[in-house]
Amino acid sequence: MLAAAGVRKQFGALAALGGVDLDVGPGDAIGIVGPNGAGKTTLLNVLAGTMAPSGGTVSFRGADVTRSSAARRARLGIARAHQVPRPFGAMTVFENCLVGATAGGGLRRRAAYARCLEVLELCGLIELADRRADSLGLLGRKRLELARALATDPVVLLLDEIGAGLTDAEAAELVAMLKALRGEQGLAVVWIEHIVHVLVQVVTRLVCMDAGRVISDGEPAAVMRDARVVDAYLGTAAA
Ligand SMILES: Nc1ncnc2c1ncn2[C@@H]1O[C@H](COP(=O)(O)OP(=O)(O)O)[C@@H](O)[C@H]1O
Ligand SMILES: [Mg+2]
Repeated sequence: MLAAAGVRKQFGALAALGGVDLDVGPGDAIGIVGPNGAGKTTLLNVLAGTMAPSGGTVSFRGADVTRSSAARRARLGIARAHQVPRPFGAMTVFENCLVGATAGGGLRRRAAYARCLEVLELCGLIELADRRADSLGLLGRKRLELARALATDPVVLLLDEIGAGLTDAEAAELVAMLKALRGEQGLAVVWIEHIVHVLVQVVTRLVCMDAGRVISDGEPAAVMRDARVVDAYLGTAAA
């Protein structure tokens, strides 16, 4: 459904992505792991359209979107939540969500309001809907980042380390939320996360990247046992 084929990204002499293939099917829950600098965020940028690849293609539902803007892809149903949430601080939680629904998702007023109520409920933010976004704590901002992405009514949700910085209890709340989402809406999720034990509670497929390449892709337990994956992590720990 959302597919990267032979995607390369060059930063000067550095090959951040050296030919990556990834196919995300409807309702898939895919975790992406790998050491720092592996190219995970770059891959998400290329999928979301915030960065053009140096080579290869990105397609969505059979159409080539390699050269489509991030805004266009958001309208098609590709949403992305950032590692560092960037809400409009002076706007309320509801207004932030509304920006996602209208500007991001292209929903009209009535549908946008309805969608916002739904996702704020799902993300546990309904009681905080009238609060200014800059009054939220870290978990609240992460919830809002997720709500804004969901407000666009996506088919695929791309998440970059949204668990980073959360306590175990907060991460557990996030996991419960993502499970509920996947159950209710059949959403496909691609989730980059360092905290693997959190990740595997949600995903059914794990992709490990190292040095701009996919080194293992499959059932989570098998990927975690894969010698190439173990090497990539031990190499990092030793460095
Ligand atoms: N905008 C950029 N300009 C130059 N180099 C970059 C840029 N973005 C990422 N890189 C480099 O590309 C490599 C992959 O980065 P990134 O995709 O952020 O890795 P990860 O998310 O797996 O930690 C790193 O070596 C990083 O320094
Ligand atoms: Mg990253």
